[in-house]
Amino acid sequence: MKRKIVIVGAGFVGTSLAYSLLNQGTVEELILIDINKDKTIGEEMDLSDGLPYSPHKMDIKAGDYSDCNDASIVVITAGLAQKEGQSRLELAVENTKIMKDITENVMKSGFKGIFIIATNPVDLMSYVVAKVSGMPTSKVIGSGTVLDTARLRYLIAEYLDVSSKNVHAYILGEHGDSSLVPWEHCYVGCKKMIEIMEDNNYPMEDLEMIHDKVWNAAYEIIEKKKATYYGIGMALNRLIKAILNDEKAILTVSTFQNGEYGNEGIYIGVPAIISKDGVKDILKLKLNKKDQERFDRSCDIMKENIKNAIDSLL
Ligand code: LAC
Repeated sequence: MKRKIVIVGAGFVGTSLAYSLLNQGTVEELILIDINKDKTIGEEMDLSDGLPYSPHKMDIKAGDYSDCNDASIVVITAGLAQKEGQSRLELAVENTKIMKDITENVMKSGFKGIFIIATNPVDLMSYVVAKVSGMPTSKVIGSGTVLDTARLRYLIAEYLDVSSKNVHAYILGEHGDSSLVPWEHCYVGCKKMIEIMEDNNYPMEDLEMIHDKVWNAAYEIIEKKKATYYGIGMALNRLIKAILNDEKAILTVSTFQNGEYGNEGIYIGVPAIISKDGVKDILKLKLNKKDQERFDRSCDIMKENIKNAIDSLL
Protein backbone atom coordinates (compact mmCIF):
# COMPACT_ATOMS: atom_id res chain seq x y z
CA MET A 1 0.00 0.00 0.00
CA LYS A 2 1.50 3.32 -1.08
CA ARG A 3 2.44 5.26 2.04
CA LYS A 4 1.06 8.50 0.60
CA ILE A 5 -1.66 10.42 2.40
CA VAL A 6 -3.41 13.75 1.96
CA ILE A 7 -4.59 15.96 4.83
CA VAL A 8 -7.36 18.38 3.89
CA GLY A 9 -7.27 21.19 6.44
CA ALA A 10 -4.02 22.71 7.70
CA GLY A 11 -5.44 24.01 10.95
CA PHE A 12 -4.51 22.89 14.45
CA VAL A 13 -5.79 19.32 14.00
CA GLY A 14 -4.36 18.78 10.52
CA THR A 15 -0.93 20.14 11.40
CA SER A 16 -0.84 18.24 14.72
CA LEU A 17 -1.48 15.07 12.73
CA ALA A 18 1.24 16.10 10.25
CA TYR A 19 3.70 16.69 13.11
CA SER A 20 2.80 13.31 14.61
CA LEU A 21 3.32 11.56 11.24
CA LEU A 22 6.72 13.28 10.88
CA ASN A 23 7.87 12.19 14.34
CA GLN A 24 6.65 8.61 13.98
CA GLY A 25 7.70 8.12 10.37
CA THR A 26 4.24 6.81 9.49
CA VAL A 27 4.15 7.84 5.83
CA GLU A 28 6.57 8.48 2.95
CA GLU A 29 4.60 11.24 1.28
CA LEU A 30 2.34 13.84 2.86
CA ILE A 31 0.25 16.37 0.94
CA LEU A 32 -1.35 19.33 2.72
CA ILE A 33 -4.42 21.03 1.24
CA ASP A 34 -6.13 24.12 2.64
CA ILE A 35 -8.15 27.04 1.30
CA ASN A 36 -5.30 29.17 2.62
CA LYS A 37 -2.54 28.08 0.21
CA ASP A 38 0.09 30.19 1.92
CA LYS A 39 -0.62 28.34 5.18
CA THR A 40 0.12 24.97 3.53
CA ILE A 41 3.35 26.35 2.03
CA GLY A 42 4.41 27.63 5.44
CA GLU A 43 3.55 24.30 7.06
CA GLU A 44 5.46 22.42 4.34
CA MET A 45 8.53 24.55 5.04
CA ASP A 46 8.25 24.37 8.82
CA LEU A 47 7.68 20.59 8.93
CA SER A 48 10.47 19.97 6.39
CA ASP A 49 12.91 21.77 8.68
CA GLY A 50 12.43 18.89 11.12
CA LEU A 51 13.27 16.19 8.57
CA PRO A 52 17.00 15.99 9.37
CA TYR A 53 15.99 14.97 12.91
CA SER A 54 13.05 12.69 12.03
CA PRO A 55 13.37 8.87 12.04
CA HIS A 56 12.37 8.49 8.41
CA LYS A 57 12.31 10.43 5.15
CA MET A 58 8.96 12.01 4.36
CA ASP A 59 8.21 14.12 1.29
CA ILE A 60 5.98 16.96 2.46
CA LYS A 61 4.19 19.11 -0.08
CA ALA A 62 1.63 21.90 -0.19
CA GLY A 63 -0.66 20.43 -2.80
CA ASP A 64 -4.10 20.48 -4.37
CA TYR A 65 -6.94 18.03 -4.94
CA SER A 66 -5.28 16.45 -8.00
CA ASP A 67 -2.72 15.00 -5.56
CA CYS A 68 -5.47 12.79 -4.08
CA ASN A 69 -5.52 10.64 -7.23
CA ASP A 70 -2.94 8.07 -6.08
CA ALA A 71 -3.15 8.68 -2.32
CA SER A 72 -3.99 5.69 -0.10
CA ILE A 73 -5.77 7.82 2.49
CA VAL A 74 -7.38 11.26 2.51
CA VAL A 75 -7.86 12.68 6.01
CA ILE A 76 -10.43 15.49 6.29
CA THR A 77 -9.85 17.80 9.26
CA ALA A 78 -11.18 21.05 7.72
CA GLY A 79 -14.29 22.78 9.01
CA LEU A 80 -15.55 24.99 11.83
CA ALA A 81 -14.26 23.96 15.26
CA GLN A 82 -16.12 23.99 18.57
CA LYS A 83 -16.10 27.32 20.39
CA GLU A 84 -16.09 27.55 24.20
CA GLY A 85 -19.25 25.91 25.56
CA GLN A 86 -20.44 24.89 22.08
CA SER A 87 -21.47 21.28 21.42
CA ARG A 88 -20.07 19.41 18.42
CA LEU A 89 -23.60 18.87 17.05
CA GLU A 90 -24.07 22.64 16.66
CA LEU A 91 -21.47 22.55 13.84
CA ALA A 92 -23.49 20.08 11.75
CA VAL A 93 -25.13 22.35 9.15
CA GLU A 94 -22.13 24.53 8.32
CA ASN A 95 -19.68 21.64 8.28
CA THR A 96 -21.96 19.53 6.09
CA LYS A 97 -21.63 22.15 3.34
CA ILE A 98 -17.84 22.15 3.75
CA MET A 99 -17.68 18.33 3.77
CA LYS A 100 -19.79 18.09 0.60
CA ASP A 101 -17.50 20.51 -1.25
CA ILE A 102 -14.29 18.80 -0.11
CA THR A 103 -15.59 15.30 -0.90
CA GLU A 104 -16.68 16.31 -4.41
CA ASN A 105 -13.23 17.82 -5.07
CA VAL A 106 -11.44 14.72 -3.80
CA MET A 107 -13.60 12.40 -5.92
CA LYS A 108 -12.94 14.51 -9.04
CA SER A 109 -9.26 13.53 -8.70
CA GLY A 110 -10.15 9.86 -9.26
CA PHE A 111 -9.38 8.98 -5.62
CA LYS A 112 -10.00 5.29 -4.83
CA GLY A 113 -8.47 5.06 -1.37
CA ILE A 114 -9.84 5.38 2.15
CA PHE A 115 -11.42 8.49 3.70
CA ILE A 116 -10.75 9.31 7.33
CA ILE A 117 -12.92 12.09 8.77
CA ALA A 118 -12.09 14.06 11.92
CA THR A 119 -14.31 17.10 11.34
CA ASN A 120 -17.05 17.42 13.95
CA PRO A 121 -19.70 16.31 14.54
CA VAL A 122 -17.65 13.42 13.22
CA ASP A 123 -20.40 10.76 13.13
CA LEU A 124 -22.59 13.01 11.00
CA MET A 125 -19.71 14.24 8.84
CA SER A 126 -18.69 10.64 8.12
CA TYR A 127 -22.27 9.96 6.98
CA VAL A 128 -22.05 13.01 4.67
CA VAL A 129 -18.74 11.91 3.11
CA ALA A 130 -20.10 8.38 2.56
CA LYS A 131 -23.26 9.72 0.90
CA VAL A 132 -21.52 12.30 -1.29
CA SER A 133 -18.56 10.09 -2.32
CA GLY A 134 -20.62 6.96 -3.00
CA MET A 135 -17.61 4.99 -1.74
CA PRO A 136 -18.17 1.63 0.03
CA THR A 137 -18.95 2.54 3.64
CA SER A 138 -16.05 0.32 4.80
CA LYS A 139 -13.71 2.86 3.14
CA VAL A 140 -15.24 5.91 4.84
CA ILE A 141 -14.11 5.97 8.47
CA GLY A 142 -14.73 8.59 11.13
CA SER A 143 -12.28 9.07 14.02
CA GLY A 144 -15.34 8.33 16.16
CA THR A 145 -14.51 7.62 19.80
CA VAL A 146 -10.88 6.62 19.21
CA LEU A 147 -9.87 9.76 21.13
CA ASP A 148 -12.54 9.29 23.82
CA THR A 149 -11.33 5.70 24.28
CA ALA A 150 -7.76 6.97 24.68
CA ARG A 151 -8.96 9.50 27.28
CA LEU A 152 -10.84 6.70 29.10
CA ARG A 153 -7.82 4.38 29.12
CA TYR A 154 -5.55 7.17 30.36
CA LEU A 155 -7.95 8.04 33.20
CA ILE A 156 -8.39 4.38 34.25
CA ALA A 157 -4.61 3.93 34.18
CA GLU A 158 -4.16 6.98 36.41
CA TYR A 159 -6.93 5.77 38.76
CA LEU A 160 -5.40 2.29 39.16
CA ASP A 161 -1.74 3.34 38.74
CA VAL A 162 -1.16 0.88 35.87
CA SER A 163 0.09 1.30 32.29
CA SER A 164 -2.59 2.63 29.93
CA LYS A 165 -1.28 0.08 27.43
CA ASN A 166 -2.81 -2.65 29.59
CA VAL A 167 -6.22 -1.01 29.87
CA HIS A 168 -8.71 -2.50 27.41
CA ALA A 169 -11.80 -0.35 27.56
CA TYR A 170 -14.02 1.09 24.84
CA ILE A 171 -16.26 4.11 24.51
CA LEU A 172 -19.24 3.52 22.20
CA GLY A 173 -21.75 5.82 20.57
CA GLU A 174 -21.55 9.45 19.53
CA HIS A 175 -18.23 11.24 19.72
CA GLY A 176 -19.96 13.63 22.03
CA ASP A 177 -22.37 14.06 24.91
CA SER A 178 -24.29 10.76 24.47
CA SER A 179 -21.34 8.34 24.46
CA LEU A 180 -21.25 5.38 26.86
CA VAL A 181 -18.77 2.97 28.49
CA PRO A 182 -19.88 -0.71 28.58
CA TRP A 183 -18.03 -1.31 31.87
CA GLU A 184 -18.75 -5.06 31.78
CA HIS A 185 -16.37 -5.24 28.81
CA CYS A 186 -13.59 -3.22 30.44
CA TYR A 187 -10.44 -5.17 31.35
CA VAL A 188 -7.12 -4.30 32.96
CA GLY A 189 -4.68 -6.90 31.76
CA CYS A 190 -6.90 -9.98 31.84
CA LYS A 191 -8.92 -8.92 34.91
CA LYS A 192 -12.36 -7.33 34.71
CA MET A 193 -12.40 -3.69 35.83
CA ILE A 194 -15.54 -4.33 37.84
CA GLU A 195 -13.78 -7.17 39.73
CA ILE A 196 -10.86 -4.86 40.50
CA MET A 197 -13.27 -2.26 41.88
CA GLU A 198 -15.00 -4.92 44.03
CA ASP A 199 -11.78 -6.58 45.25
CA ASN A 200 -10.38 -3.20 46.36
CA ASN A 201 -13.68 -1.84 47.71
CA TYR A 202 -13.40 1.11 45.33
CA PRO A 203 -16.75 2.96 45.03
CA MET A 204 -18.57 2.05 41.81
CA GLU A 205 -19.58 5.72 41.49
CA ASP A 206 -15.97 6.37 40.50
CA LEU A 207 -16.66 4.69 37.15
CA GLU A 208 -19.25 7.35 36.29
CA MET A 209 -16.82 10.00 37.57
CA ILE A 210 -14.20 8.69 35.13
CA HIS A 211 -16.66 8.75 32.22
CA ASP A 212 -17.82 12.26 33.17
CA LYS A 213 -14.20 13.40 32.85
CA VAL A 214 -14.06 11.92 29.34
CA TRP A 215 -17.35 13.63 28.42
CA ASN A 216 -16.07 16.99 29.65
CA ALA A 217 -12.46 16.73 28.45
CA ALA A 218 -12.88 18.65 25.19
CA TYR A 219 -15.01 21.36 26.83
CA GLU A 220 -12.40 21.88 29.56
CA ILE A 221 -9.46 21.90 27.15
CA ILE A 222 -11.24 24.37 24.84
CA GLU A 223 -12.05 26.59 27.83
CA LYS A 224 -8.36 26.65 28.75
CA LYS A 225 -6.53 26.65 25.39
CA LYS A 226 -9.30 27.43 22.86
CA ALA A 227 -8.99 24.14 20.91
CA THR A 228 -7.99 20.47 21.15
CA TYR A 229 -5.53 19.02 18.65
CA TYR A 230 -2.65 16.93 20.03
CA GLY A 231 -4.89 14.08 21.27
CA ILE A 232 -6.89 13.85 18.06
CA GLY A 233 -3.69 14.16 16.02
CA MET A 234 -2.25 11.11 17.78
CA ALA A 235 -5.54 9.21 17.47
CA LEU A 236 -5.64 9.85 13.71
CA ASN A 237 -2.02 8.70 13.37
CA ARG A 238 -2.95 5.47 15.20
CA LEU A 239 -5.81 4.86 12.76
CA ILE A 240 -3.61 5.60 9.73
CA LYS A 241 -0.99 3.09 10.95
CA ALA A 242 -3.65 0.39 11.41
CA ILE A 243 -4.67 0.86 7.76
CA LEU A 244 -1.20 1.23 6.17
CA ASN A 245 0.21 -1.72 8.15
CA ASP A 246 -2.91 -3.88 7.64
CA GLU A 247 -2.90 -4.40 11.40
CA LYS A 248 -6.48 -5.74 11.87
CA ALA A 249 -6.36 -3.60 15.02
CA ILE A 250 -9.54 -3.00 17.00
CA LEU A 251 -10.33 0.72 17.25
CA THR A 252 -13.60 2.46 18.18
CA VAL A 253 -14.04 4.31 14.90
CA SER A 254 -17.24 5.86 13.59
CA THR A 255 -18.48 3.33 11.07
CA PHE A 256 -21.68 2.63 9.17
CA GLN A 257 -24.19 0.54 11.11
CA ASN A 258 -25.93 -2.41 9.43
CA GLY A 259 -27.72 -3.59 12.56
CA GLU A 260 -24.69 -5.04 14.38
CA TYR A 261 -25.78 -3.21 17.54
CA GLY A 262 -29.48 -3.07 16.68
CA ASN A 263 -29.34 0.17 14.67
CA GLU A 264 -28.75 0.87 10.99
CA GLY A 265 -28.32 3.60 8.40
CA ILE A 266 -26.09 5.85 10.53
CA TYR A 267 -22.43 6.29 11.45
CA ILE A 268 -21.49 5.91 15.11
CA GLY A 269 -18.60 4.72 17.29
CA VAL A 270 -18.21 0.98 17.83
CA PRO A 271 -15.16 -1.32 18.12
CA ALA A 272 -14.15 -2.24 14.57
CA ILE A 273 -11.37 -4.30 13.03
CA ILE A 274 -9.23 -1.98 10.89
CA SER A 275 -7.21 -3.33 7.95
CA LYS A 276 -5.68 -2.14 4.65
CA ASP A 277 -9.22 -2.21 3.21
CA GLY A 278 -10.68 0.02 5.93
CA VAL A 279 -13.31 -1.40 8.29
CA LYS A 280 -12.91 -5.19 7.93
CA ASP A 281 -15.58 -6.07 10.50
CA ILE A 282 -17.39 -4.79 13.58
CA LEU A 283 -16.69 -6.40 16.98
CA LYS A 284 -20.14 -7.13 18.41
CA LEU A 285 -20.28 -6.73 22.20
CA LYS A 286 -23.32 -8.02 24.11
CA LEU A 287 -24.61 -4.90 25.89
CA ASN A 288 -26.68 -5.09 29.08
CA LYS A 289 -30.14 -3.47 29.03
CA LYS A 290 -28.97 -0.09 30.37
CA ASP A 291 -26.02 0.15 27.96
CA GLN A 292 -28.14 -0.91 24.98
CA GLU A 293 -30.67 1.81 25.88
CA ARG A 294 -27.86 4.38 26.09
CA PHE A 295 -26.45 3.20 22.75
CA ASP A 296 -29.90 3.34 21.12
CA ARG A 297 -30.38 6.89 22.44
CA SER A 298 -27.05 7.92 20.94
CA CYS A 299 -28.11 6.43 17.60
CA ASP A 300 -31.47 8.21 17.79
CA ILE A 301 -29.66 11.54 18.22
CA MET A 302 -27.73 10.80 15.02
CA LYS A 303 -30.92 9.80 13.16
CA GLU A 304 -32.70 13.00 14.28
CA ASN A 305 -29.78 15.20 13.18
CA ILE A 306 -29.49 13.44 9.83
CA LYS A 307 -33.21 13.93 9.20
CA ASN A 308 -33.40 17.52 10.48
CA ALA A 309 -30.07 19.02 9.47
CA ILE A 310 -28.18 16.86 6.99
CA ASP A 311 -30.24 15.04 4.37
CA SER A 312 -31.82 18.23 3.05
CA LEU A 313 -28.33 19.58 2.30
CA LEU A 314 -27.15 16.54 0.34
C1 LAC B 1 -12.15 16.43 20.99
C2 LAC B 1 -12.48 16.88 19.60
C3 LAC B 1 -11.53 16.24 18.59
O1 LAC B 1 -12.91 15.59 21.54
O2 LAC B 1 -13.85 16.58 19.25
O3 LAC B 1 -11.09 16.85 21.49
